[in-house]
Amino acid sequence: MPSPAPDAARRRAAAECLLEGMVEAGLDLVPPSTLQAQETAPDTGKGPGATPEMADTDAALATIAASIASCQKCVLAHQRTQTVPGEGNPQARLMFVGEGPGAEEDRSGRPFVGASGQLLDKIIENGMGLSRQEVFIANLVKCRPPQNRTPQLDEVVACSTYLKEQIKAVQPELIIALGRPAAHFLLDTTEAVGSLRGKILKNPQGGPPILVTYHPAFLLYEPARKSDCWADIQVAMRFLGLAQ
Ligand code: URA
Ligand code: SF4
Repeated sequence: MPSPAPDAARRRAAAECLLEGMVEAGLDLVPPSTLQAQETAPDTGKGPGATPEMADTDAALATIAASIASCQKCVLAHQRTQTVPGEGNPQARLMFVGEGPGAEEDRSGRPFVGASGQLLDKIIENGMGLSRQEVFIANLVKCRPPQNRTPQLDEVVACSTYLKEQIKAVQPELIIALGRPAAHFLLDTTEAVGSLRGKILKNPQGGPPILVTYHPAFLLYEPARKSDCWADIQVAMRFLGLAQ
């Protein structure tokens, strides 16, 4: 990740300005064309120097993971092998939120390690030029839904405190919602992913802005949509100041 540049205040002001006030279908957004004009990344003070904060965040994340490990708040607790709290850089500028663990995640306790995970790795590494260790990867629900079914609303609601706490601890500059359940929950909407994707949207909960793209599992099934996902990822990269 690039370290913050000296004109941080100007950039922060520009980023705040970009995120203000534009509404489409009830969702605040920044059009990608505007973002293209953004020269540099917003600065939230995250940088290589913030080691004590990093330790605090690490401790907060460990506490959250411990609560998840013993959680029995929904029926998904019954069939799990182990919980999958999420993992990554406590100081990540970018957080991915998927749906829920699959078979391999349930076995390993780590998010996105199966086929979807391999595609996500490609997006992060080959596409964005980042490493998995630089970002934070989480899911909406922390226990595997049987047969990989979509998590039910009561399960998402029961589990949502953990994701909210993780977002609060990491304070990423951007969240990428992978697929419909994450997008719908984070944006509190029922709009189709096809119309939500590719835009930096204001977080209705007041947290970091959100970009929606297709879930990697969907892309494995519909590879023709990979170019749309790449276009979305480039919007995220421009927002984070990672694009040339
Ligand atoms: N799909 C998800 O949404 N999350 C994972 O961790 C793996 C597959
Ligand atoms: Fe608890 Fe979430 Fe697992 Fe349900 S899915 S048991 S709420 S950790």
